[in-house]
Amino acid sequence: MSETLVFYSELDPFEQWRGLLAPLLPGVRIVRSCDEVVDPASVRYALVWKPPVGFFARFPNLQLVINLGAGVDSLVGRGDLPDVPITRLSDPDMARMMAGYVLFAVLRYARDIPAFERAQRERRWHYLHPREPSSIRVGVLGLGELGARAAQELARQGFSVRGWSRSPKVLEGIPCCAGQEALPAFLASSDILVVMLPLTPQTRGLLDAERLAMLPPGCCLINVSRGPVVDQAALTAALASGHIAEATLDVFDREPLPPEDPLWGMDNVLITPHLASVALPASAAEQIAANVARVREGREVQHRVDPVRGY
Ligand code: GLV
Repeated sequence: MSETLVFYSELDPFEQWRGLLAPLLPGVRIVRSCDEVVDPASVRYALVWKPPVGFFARFPNLQLVINLGAGVDSLVGRGDLPDVPITRLSDPDMARMMAGYVLFAVLRYARDIPAFERAQRERRWHYLHPREPSSIRVGVLGLGELGARAAQELARQGFSVRGWSRSPKVLEGIPCCAGQEALPAFLASSDILVVMLPLTPQTRGLLDAERLAMLPPGCCLINVSRGPVVDQAALTAALASGHIAEATLDVFDREPLPPEDPLWGMDNVLITPHLASVALPASAAEQIAANVARVREGREVQHRVDPVRGY
């Protein structure tokens, strides 16, 4: 019986993925979503981003679920997961794309660009003497593949970068600390805080009102991981009071961010629609095909997600 890989994503370009995967997966039919699947029993592999509830139940012979992205919180949290290995993308190009976004957002603050944007709207010549990058303390919260890469790119720009993670990590040239007890001092010394933690039961709401208040007055916050890591109401209040001077937000509690959300109207907030980093077909197709090959050979897959740990 021939094998099928089923694809589901409302955002990612199916034809491009199929074009790249097909030559790497001879003998595997690659089809989009359930309605194209002729024989659900032939589906062995699912390449998915946020499939609807009940999606997997149709495929009794599924052997592998591949998350079409780095963050797996939307998959591991659901009750209808099949009992098969789940993998996520772990792609240096995706990490570079993320680091590029973080670098842009940090540089925008470090070079006072929002102040110049405001001044320009008023036709006002507003000279602010540039600061030394080393005088700006950038805290990277979360040192997984994406966080570590972003921290290194920031350090290369000369910022005073430090990292925090739940369990101890070592990064060359970057002072790192770990654990809840280290968090208050870490927050208190972050002029720019970059949130790069995966969303797990342990990180949900980690940055609540109390912890946001530990940040230095006038700091900037960048969230590129998941909205619910930060208490969005507390963040909005801190931005309104000016305790947090500026925020760049790519992720939110609810996406799309509802039109009535007060964040839209805030002059000190830059909103982007969850695209700081996306799955890149040209670089990730090979690792997906390699994992399919491993399943076919009965070998352990790479970049396997632990649903209990949550990432
Ligand atoms: C995007 O948010 C991803 O997790 O890949």
